[in-house]
Amino acid sequence: MPEKSDVRAEAVTMDTLVSLTKRRGFIFPSSEIYGGLASAWDYGPMGVELKKRIQEFWWREMTQLNDNIVGLDAAIMMHPRVWEASGHVENFTDPLIDCKNCKHRFRADQIPEENMKTHKCPDCGANQLTEARKFNLMFTTHMGPVEDAGGLIYLRPETAQGIYVNYKNVLQTGRVKIPFGIAQVGKAFRNEITTKNFIFRTCEFEQMEMQFFIHPSEDAKWFEHWRGKRLQYYIDLGIRPEKLRFHQHGPDELAHYAKLAFDIQYEFPFGWKELEGIHNRTDYDLKRHTEYSGKDLSYLDEVSHERYIPYIIETSAGLTRTVLVVLADAYDEEVVEGEKRVVMRFHPRIAPTTVGVFPLVKKDGLAEIAHKLSDELCEEFRTFYDESGAIGRRYRRQDEVGTPFCVTVDYQTKEDQTVTIRFRDSMEQVRVKMAEVGPTIRKSIKEYKRASSGTNGGKQT
Ligand code: GAP
Repeated sequence: MPEKSDVRAEAVTMDTLVSLTKRRGFIFPSSEIYGGLASAWDYGPMGVELKKRIQEFWWREMTQLNDNIVGLDAAIMMHPRVWEASGHVENFTDPLIDCKNCKHRFRADQIPEENMKTHKCPDCGANQLTEARKFNLMFTTHMGPVEDAGGLIYLRPETAQGIYVNYKNVLQTGRVKIPFGIAQVGKAFRNEITTKNFIFRTCEFEQMEMQFFIHPSEDAKWFEHWRGKRLQYYIDLGIRPEKLRFHQHGPDELAHYAKLAFDIQYEFPFGWKELEGIHNRTDYDLKRHTEYSGKDLSYLDEVSHERYIPYIIETSAGLTRTVLVVLADAYDEEVVEGEKRVVMRFHPRIAPTTVGVFPLVKKDGLAEIAHKLSDELCEEFRTFYDESGAIGRRYRRQDEVGTPFCVTVDYQTKEDQTVTIRFRDSMEQVRVKMAEVGPTIRKSIKEYKRASSGTNGGKQT
């Protein structure tokens, strides 16, 4: 195995991630040829695969492994009364402060107390800060040809409400009984005052939300159940447990609908920040929708004949924010035989490409054998065929996009039908029969444990 040394001590920076993800086709600035749009990002070939894998893993965890959780895909645009009932029209605001001199805009809680006293702008230094005013974070638009108040609608700021307004439909058609859950993944929009740190906080983002409907007397039990399950999800996704923690909301942090809330936080390069919220929303949402729609949203227990408004335990994860967590957590650097090696240590189950397939050279029939092998493997794994450049360079390119396995066809293959499998984390190479490539990879994915080496991967061994 190649010799590794000289591990640099610092952790990954956001600049490093932005640059690698652009260079390797994960994430591009939106409408870049026009100069970009602040805080909007596009997912390239690698990014879209990674995002899809994270989403699929969540969907599997929720709907496939729990027979009492069903899926939903509600429209982004909803009746405007939904947002009055939910409390968003009234409460979904940030206190906003402007500087009249430099025109910069701040959330009040981001301005140091000293500056608040003197109205001094933290950016330009002029004493020209305005008083805080409420700024609603919902984007509005108009439906229909006339831009009047009658056509005013909102882009949903969370996917959750689409679930609440469909709760009765699902109950009547989904053959579900309390306790049960509804899961949904989709876009949400918030006119955030400050967007920075890449894809951490953007105006357009994706959420993976699950609303679990329960008897009110069981809220503590189910809250704890989902709190534990949700932390485990990130560990199973390959995130290092020491980078994850819970944060309980204090009384001044609780959302208007929540009785109890815990965030799962991740230690980003810019500090510990929320990745997912787990909320006990009580019967707030269904009561409000009952009141505003005039429809009865109560539940009748067929055994006890008790009628009640269910409580809801919500697990609300940011999909695009999880992509950032996965990228930041996977990034690793080490020096191998005098050269820097950048490696994304994605868990193989979510890596954008699972297997790289290479002929050592294009000629002498090796490319044909490699193509055939690639065609077989792609039935089960996401494969990438590459025949150009030195083999070492091809390996390094795959390290940078986090491909956990590379298979090389060489002259010996023609003699004994064996190939080399090279493992991303250890760089170890083993020779196996071609027929054994699939089973070997399958086994490695199942038994995968992150290697502890490099700058961001823990201790160098
Ligand atoms: N339905 C509850 C709800 O939306 P939230 O804490 O406001 O709760 C849940 O949002 C998750 O959505 C957050 O933990 C975060 O991961 C993600 N999220 C929220 N705002 C975001 C933004 N502007 N950009 C990216 N992700 C965001």
